[in-house]
Amino acid sequence: MDAHRIAQVQDSFEKVAAMGTRAAEIFHEEFFALDPSLRAMFNGDMADHQRKLLVALSFVTRSLHAPDKFLSEVEKLATRHVGYGVRMEQYNHFGNALLRTLKRMLGPEFTPELCDAWRDAFRMLTRSIKEAAYEGVSAPTQAAG
Ligand code: HEM
Repeated sequence: MDAHRIAQVQDSFEKVAAMGTRAAEIFHEEFFALDPSLRAMFNGDMADHQRKLLVALSFVTRSLHAPDKFLSEVEKLATRHVGYGVRMEQYNHFGNALLRTLKRMLGPEFTPELCDAWRDAFRMLTRSIKEAAYEGVSAPTQAAG
């Protein structure tokens, strides 16, 4: 990803994160709407998960320009998620829910160009997750929007 796209993703994520846990609430709403069976995976405190997800996404977006930092964190996260029973193809729902959340929260500021930048970032994330934890498993990894 080039520096301009990385900056676009980071700036827009900061804006959304500044709106507090509302972003994470909307995300989970969209995520479960895409696949209601995902809800059963979360038997813990959803508010706690919403906070953790925002922190993790903040770290991931801030590390897009630093591949070593990015990869080491994503590898650990991906491995833990295999333990939670997450399948590779479920990350498609994650990506689509994320794009819908950004669109709902940023409105007209979520331009097609910004959407493309987020698709790039998500592709980078899913590629790393696949290599770290699902190597050899074939599944589509592209968010359709
Ligand atoms: C299909 C996609 C995903 C599913 C189904 C999923 C599901 C889960 C589940 C079941 C847990 C453990 C239960 C809980 O803490 O309540 C969890 C924890 C967590 N998830 Fe996800 N997750 C997904 C993607 C992601 C992504 C892409 C990120 C970050 C960029 C993320 C960040 C976290 C964090 C930070 C935790 C807390 C525990 C830990 O760090 O291992 N998740 N997730």
